[in-house]
Amino acid sequence: MSTNRRLWECVLAMLVIGTGVAGAQTKTKKTAAKPASAVVVPAESRACVTCHEQKTPGIVAQWHGSAHAKQGVACLECHGAAASDPGAFTHEGATIITVVTPNQCAACHGDIVAENSRSHHAAAASFIGSLDNVLGEVVEGRLAAVNGCWQCHGSTVAILKNPDGSIRTKPDGAPMLDPTTWPNTGIGRVNLDGSLGSCTACHSRHSFSKAMARQPEVCGKCHMGPDHPQAEIYAESKHGIAYRTQMSEMHLDSDRWIVGVDYTAAPTCSTCHMSATKDQRVTHDVGARISWTLRPVVSKKLEKWEAKREAMKGVCDSCHTPDFIDAFYKTYDATVDLWNTKFAVPATSVMTALREAGKISPTPFDDEIEWTYYRLWHHEGRRARMGASMQGPDYTQWHGFFEAAENFYMKFLPQAREAAKGDPKVLAAIEAVENDRPNLWKKGLSPEERQKIDEFYKERYGEH
Ligand code: HEC
Ligand code: HEC
Ligand code: HEC
Ligand code: HEC
Ligand code: HEC
Ligand code: HEC
Ligand code: HEC
Ligand code: HEC
Repeated sequence: MSTNRRLWECVLAMLVIGTGVAGAQTKTKKTAAKPASAVVVPAESRACVTCHEQKTPGIVAQWHGSAHAKQGVACLECHGAAASDPGAFTHEGATIITVVTPNQCAACHGDIVAENSRSHHAAAASFIGSLDNVLGEVVEGRLAAVNGCWQCHGSTVAILKNPDGSIRTKPDGAPMLDPTTWPNTGIGRVNLDGSLGSCTACHSRHSFSKAMARQPEVCGKCHMGPDHPQAEIYAESKHGIAYRTQMSEMHLDSDRWIVGVDYTAAPTCSTCHMSATKDQRVTHDVGARISWTLRPVVSKKLEKWEAKREAMKGVCDSCHTPDFIDAFYKTYDATVDLWNTKFAVPATSVMTALREAGKISPTPFDDEIEWTYYRLWHHEGRRARMGASMQGPDYTQWHGFFEAAENFYMKFLPQAREAAKGDPKVLAAIEAVENDRPNLWKKGLSPEERQKIDEFYKERYGEH
């Protein structure tokens, strides 16, 4: 053990550590066996590396395999701070911060940080005021928000204070971070220095790899579940299938990664939303290529949507013809319109009538129909739209429109009638919906249509 350590110090003193030596320490680790390029540890970070090699070998091993290590970007390039920086403390003779923020990265990746900062990702922690927040913080309880919402959207990192307002510190002088706010790698984390976001949400430390971020699993931590099942939709789609079955042809760790040039097997989330095409560079603004927002009750086209759509079409272009792509968008637009006009607008008009007549209280979630309505747009309606946007037929149909229809006709409208308690204005609103053309089927199918159904089952399954 101590011989091993002396050997290490010796090697470090030589300044240059070949990755072959790192490999000797972690012989079984395949990841350490990168090409024979040398890792140069800058003098200021040598002590950090030597000691943390012992104390937190995982961190140093991840860093060793990274592009940063090869370029001499070491511990202090990211953790080094001025004494006046929020959260800064003295550690083994250096002034450092623990929670590295995009401001540190900006010294070398300024354009990327600027792009990320203006994206919806960076703003993701500002959801106070949303119904979701009332649900998490109040209806469910604060720790549900801490361990749920904040882990995806981001916390507001905070330092614990003493009753007299001074900063609470650990024995070594480091400030104590509020444990409900850190560890946290939520996408829109509000950092101590006021910057927004957490680059490690997609580039796990300390490998900070772009190959990792190109994989759909990275996005899937957050983009999944009943209200935004993009990971599941992708897995079901032809694109996800092509990705899984041809992963070895994806060249994920290629330095340059242009769709149609460096790989053609399949698109990943990153391909369509972030990565380069032959005419577009990588973008860290994930909204740059989408034309609709599928999150609100009623979907709307975004500002400058035409240009954003053209950018996305430029991705499809490497694998599909213009007619194919236009046909997809035509049907997708019509499907979003179907959701808007058949379910979202009518259900909202009924809710408005109920609220105006004082039949539901201003407090969210204390009336049953509020849960029904929330589930209709926030879960079922989103799934229907999102499934259509990324070719997941089961999410469009069975998890989407089917559940929306069952809810709308069998729960929402009957509950609205009950809540109306005979109020003529509310009843008029409900009847306007029921008498609208898309809902007339409830008044009964024609004898011919019923006969068609009978014949179908007779032919398939025989007489009963
Ligand atoms: C002599 C050993 C040693 C050296 C040198 C050293 N560290 Fe540490 N470091 C530790 C130990 C042990 C801990 C765990 C500290 C604790 O919580 O008591 C730690 C903790 C940390 C933390 C996390 C602090 C927290 O709030 O949890 C960071 C970040 C860190 N070190 C970075 C560095 C950097 C950067 C350098 C080089 C300037 C460095 N360390 C040098 C031993 C060392
Ligand atoms: C490219 C920038 C970068 C470099 C280089 C870097 N770090 Fe970090 N480090 C980070 C980020 C980002 C975090 C995560 C902070 C957070 O929680 O968001 C982190 C977290 C840490 C932590 C706390 C995490 C934990 O799990 O306890 C320690 C300790 C640490 N780094 C030590 C080191 C040491 C030692 C080195 C040098 C071998 C190093 N770092 C190099 C960016 C860097
Ligand atoms: C002192 C400058 C410096 C700082 C600070 C820095 N980087 Fe880097 N980063 C580099 C260099 C140099 C490269 C290698 C570029 C290359 O290979 O073309 C790189 C490469 C990367 C890559 C691509 C890695 C790959 O797989 O090829 C990512 C991702 C990255 N950095 C993220 C970060 C993040 C996140 C931070 C802040 C936590 C950060 N960097 C801080 C200089 C820096
Ligand atoms: C598993 C990760 C995850 C959890 C947990 C989560 N969200 Fe989200 N949330 C997301 C993602 C991803 C989106 C964006 C979905 C999309 O664009 O399709 C989103 C969207 C939202 C939106 C809509 C923002 C807009 O621009 O319209 C709000 C508000 C919101 N979430 C608040 C919350 C609250 C409050 C909680 C806790 C009760 C929560 N979320 C829990 C990942 C999560
Ligand atoms: C939503 C996920 C995500 C977040 C958050 C994210 N990145 Fe990236 N980043 C990616 C992806 C995906 C790529 C690879 C794109 C490609 O080459 O196809 C990438 C590539 C990079 C590269 C290599 C750029 C190049 O052109 O080779 C750097 C450097 C980088 N990111 C830095 C950052 C920094 C700094 C932050 C925080 C401000 C950050 N990233 C946040 C997903 C993310
Ligand atoms: C740590 C959680 C997290 C990860 C990881 C994550 N996202 Fe997000 N994403 C969110 C949240 C939360 C939102 C909604 C933000 C809002 O509007 O408040 C969002 C929004 C989006 C949007 C909508 C943007 C807009 O302008 O409307 C796209 C597209 C997106 N993410 C793509 C991705 C891709 C691609 C990846 C992986 C490379 C990814 N995300 C990784 C949490 C995450
Ligand atoms: C083949 C390209 C493609 C792939 C692969 C892909 N997407 Fe999408 N994504 C789209 C298109 C097209 C839209 C709809 C754009 C529009 O409305 O104009 C979209 C929409 C979105 C939205 C916006 C939802 C909203 O609320 O408005 C999010 C978030 C998203 N995708 C995340 C992901 C994630 C995460 C993955 C991987 C699991 C992924 N996408 C894979 C093409 C893709
Ligand atoms: C890297 C290549 C690639 C890119 C980029 C790409 N696709 Fe595909 N796409 C495929 C492959 C492969 C299939 C499967 C074809 C088959 O099964 O015959 C496919 C199938 C499809 C299908 C048919 C789905 C089904 O279930 O039959 C649609 C629709 C589609 N893509 C739309 C798009 C759109 C829209 C974009 C851009 C937002 C896009 N694709 C980007 C490779 C790609």
